[in-house]
Formats: sequence, structure tokens, C-alpha cells
Amino acid sequence: MFLRNYWYVAAMPSELDGGALLGRWILGEPMLLYRTADSAVTAMADICPHRSARLSAGERDGDNVRCLYHGLEFGADGRCIRVPAQEGPPPDGLRVATYPVAEKWRLIWVWMGAAEDADEALIPDFHWNDDLDWYSVGDYMYLDCHYQLLSDNLMDLSHEAYVHRGTIGTDAVSETPSAAARDGETVTVERIMPGCPSPPFYQKLKGYDGLIDRMHRIVFRPPATIVIESKSTPSGDNDPDDGLEYRVLCAITPESDTTTHFFWAVPRNLNPEQPVTEMMYQGSKAVFEEDIDVLNRQQEVLSRVGTQANWQNIHSDAGAVYARRVVDELLATEAG
Ligand code: FES
Ligand SMILES: [Fe+2]
Repeated sequence: MFLRNYWYVAAMPSELDGGALLGRWILGEPMLLYRTADSAVTAMADICPHRSARLSAGERDGDNVRCLYHGLEFGADGRCIRVPAQEGPPPDGLRVATYPVAEKWRLIWVWMGAAEDADEALIPDFHWNDDLDWYSVGDYMYLDCHYQLLSDNLMDLSHEAYVHRGTIGTDAVSETPSAAARDGETVTVERIMPGCPSPPFYQKLKGYDGLIDRMHRIVFRPPATIVIESKSTPSGDNDPDDGLEYRVLCAITPESDTTTHFFWAVPRNLNPEQPVTEMMYQGSKAVFEEDIDVLNRQQEVLSRVGTQANWQNIHSDAGAVYARRVVDELLATEAG
């Protein structure tokens, strides 16, 4: 149902501040995440092996976690180290399963496949989020929809003209055809929009008062990480200093069949001023909220009426269709 042999973002580092025990469902499994004294991140099943209480509802004792149902204590490696009123060391089999974790690009990733296959080199390139030449904003959002409704949405930005017409959308985005291509597991969608009107958000941000040259390039990697490259300059002005260039980094993690975690970041390499940073954060968040409103309602229709089998494809769906095809093929491979 979900691809296992991939890194998924489980949390933003700030969510583990202050010694927090973060409980989060990932691919339908309850997971506990916390930071130990050496600043490493531990991820383990959020299930007490005694009677299945949530360990995230427990308490910390240094790097150990105590279940607050009957008091069993576990180390950061998942081994039980104490059972109240029971003499001697706890049995070796009394342990909680752990997950490989990596902290990279200012995000916390977990590996959901076999531990021996966890290779940090497989983490998608989000370096813009951890690069002093880029100024990044980002956040976490929660969606009541299947994760692929969100990846469909990000692979086809023609919706900007309708869903985001008050912010980043203009007719140029919906009326300019895009070009989609697949190369192995990677899908790319590109849309070049020379001499088009500036959307309201760009006017506010950059003071564009005439036509702009605009482009989007979207790169998908399975299961669902998407990097959108976005550039604009005043039309005919090729000096990037006069323009706006940013990436939209999207890490999509299924929580369940109908709910999704969304970690996004929008790094830009120009205009480092703080008011621009604030505008980028608020503007991006408002745009994603517009998407989420559509996607949650879309899921409601799919859940209650089940119309997905009758979907009719149009030209601009090519990238999303390729991306789903990649995932379907990989699911078949993993199923063996
Ligand atoms: S359920 Fe955790 S100690 Fe009993
Ligand atoms: Fe959108």
C-alpha cells in the first residue's frame, strides 16, 4: 500500500525541542521520536510491548522513556531496562522496534524499509534548505487526504490560475502548456511563460509593475518528494538580481490511507530582507492552505462516492500520471 524502501520526513527538528516525546503515525505505524543528550534523534515504535500503551504519552528519565501505564522503562535503543517489582534484568525479548533515522537538510528522516538497507545517500537533495546562500522558510501541515492527492496537486500547477488566483495564479499558468518527461524514477514538468502578467503576490513581493518572464520546473522523486524551481524577472530583463528565484521543497509522508503529513520549505537566493522572509512564509502558508481546502474536499468525495476509477485525464495531468505510474511500478517491485 505504501513504499517501504524510502526515507520519509517524520518531523521538523523544532518539534523535538525541549526534550519532547513526539508521537506521530507514519505509514499507518505509530512512531515515537525524541532527541537524546548527545543530540541524536531516536525513532521507535510508539507501542509499549507490555499492553500497547503509547510511549509518547509516557515520561523521560534522561535518555530513557518510562511508560506511564505500568512503569516499564526503555532505553533509546528500544531495550527494556526496568520492570517494576521484577527482580533481575528484563528479558532480552522485551524491547521496542527502532527505525533508522537521519537528520539532513534541517529535516528528520526515517527509513521505513529493512534497517540494513538504510543508506543516507538515498535521501533526496533538499540542500537549499541548509545553505547559507539561501533564505528559507518552512513549516509542517496536516491534510485529511491520501498523500497522492497532494503530489498530483504539486505536479500540475495549472490549478494556480483557479485555486490561487488571489495570490500566485494567473491565466498564463493554466493556458501555457507544460512539458512532462519521465527518466527512470524521476518525473519532470516544465512550464515556460514569457511576457505574462505578474500574479498579485509577486507584485506585492517584488513590486513588479509590468509583464514578467516566468518559469516553473517540477521534479518528482518517489514516493513523494517534489522540488519546484520557480523563477521570474521583469519581462526582457535577464538580471536575476531584479527578479525572484525560489524553490518549493515538498516532503509528503502518508499518515494513513486518508491522512497526510506535509513538510514544506521555500528557500530563495535573493532578497534576504526580513520583511521578504515574513511575506514568503505567510504567502506560502496561505497558498498551501488554499490547496488543502480543495484536497480535503476532494478526499471526502473519493471516500464517500469513490469516483477515482472514472477520472478523465487532460494534457496537464501528464506529470502526475507519470508520477503515479512510477509509484505503482515500485510498489509492484517491492511486493516482489
Ligand atoms: S502498557 Fe506500558 S507498562 Fe503496561
Ligand atoms: Fe497549489
